[in-house]
Amino acid sequence: MLPLPLLLLGLLGLAGAAEPQVHFKEQFLDGDAWGERWVESKHKSDFGKFKLTAGKFYGDAEKDKGLQTSQDARFYALSSRFDSFSNKDQTLVVQFTVKHEQNIDCGGGYVKLFPSGLNQADMHGDSEYNIMFGPDICGPGTKKVHVIFNYKGKNVLINKDIRCKDDEFTHLYTLIVRPDNTYEVKIDNSKVESGTLESDWDFLPPKKIKDPEAKKPEDWDERAKIDDPTDTKPEDWEKPEHIPDPDAKKPEDWDEEMDGEWEPPVIQNPEYKGEWKPRQIDNPDYKGKWVHPEIDNPEYTPDSNLYAYDSFGVLGLDLWQVKSGTIFDNFLITNDEKYAEEFGNETWGATKEAEKKMKEQQDEEQRKKQEEEDKKRKEEEGEDEVDGDDNEEEDEDEEEEPEKEEEEEESEGQPKDEL
Ligand SMILES: *[C@@H]1O[C@H](CO)[C@@H](O)[C@H](O)[C@H]1NC(C)=O
Repeated sequence: MLPLPLLLLGLLGLAGAAEPQVHFKEQFLDGDAWGERWVESKHKSDFGKFKLTAGKFYGDAEKDKGLQTSQDARFYALSSRFDSFSNKDQTLVVQFTVKHEQNIDCGGGYVKLFPSGLNQADMHGDSEYNIMFGPDICGPGTKKVHVIFNYKGKNVLINKDIRCKDDEFTHLYTLIVRPDNTYEVKIDNSKVESGTLESDWDFLPPKKIKDPEAKKPEDWDERAKIDDPTDTKPEDWEKPEHIPDPDAKKPEDWDEEMDGEWEPPVIQNPEYKGEWKPRQIDNPDYKGKWVHPEIDNPEYTPDSNLYAYDSFGVLGLDLWQVKSGTIFDNFLITNDEKYAEEFGNETWGATKEAEKKMKEQQDEEQRKKQEEEDKKRKEEEGEDEVDGDDNEEEDEDEEEEPEKEEEEEESEGQPKDEL
């Protein structure tokens, strides 16, 4: 006889309250120890450095610490390993937070999930991955959420446009892939896209194709309207477009010997009716537009395992960033949608308001400081004017100085605008 508590536990288990499987979870809550869990690729010698920080503004100085890209115009290649698993017959949830606090101009904010066979020390842009997911921004033209699946060796991009967040705050990105081959993308725990893998990616050739045997019959009449055969051109229709001006008179001082023969100027004929066109009537033989009949595509074979991968073993940040400063945090890979939502609530959800507040305070302080500086400059300019007006150009240079200085501090002397 089992003790009662154990019996109850057993019953709960049977009732489907399965524990979520957490394959990977990284919140960077233990200081520098992350360096032992993450591996920097040596594929190139000049990959950018990540540093642990909560950034310029945050909701919680400790909990909001994450990995921040710290050098401009660099490739980044960092990854972390977890126990290999297959998502066969399981839901797969990939989730993390991204904060582009640098006001990003161009750079990736996505993760790649690699098979466990990846050599982390050699990870690079062409290393084969299973799934790539997350935001990507480059100029005003590219602001999207990538969802790329590797299918039989080829990277297949989603057919839909999912817009990513482009502000400076922390956002939560979630990808759910289910064993019934459906998916969902959430931003900040709200659904932004969903559907089936088969319809939203070109994994498979189309189900139906145009019947190559079928041809439009030669006598198929697609003309909805035709000329009315009973309509004829009126006899008096034909009139020249231009006629000599009947009101024109030869000038009295016209000298035929000197000026040549006088000709009246030409004017538009008011009786000209243009080209005659017969009336249009409904075509009695009209059959409608011919539709090419479709047949089942012989190349098409359904695949009920589009979603499934033999192994996941590494999560990587393989990125290019022009202006650095993006912070990645709160990584989660699990089989439990509800658990992921909860985890999102407890991380991103718990600190987002305070983060916003801190940023607003900083902006307000910055605004005040700027105001004071502007005032001071105006006063100084007032004094300068007494000395004469030679200083105008210098003054203009000074105006741009404060902003520039701030930016250069951030970039640690890396050349800007390399792209
Ligand atoms: C997450 O937070 C939202 C908003 O407060 C709430 O509606 C939702 O139920 C929460 N989800 C979970 C799983 O706790």
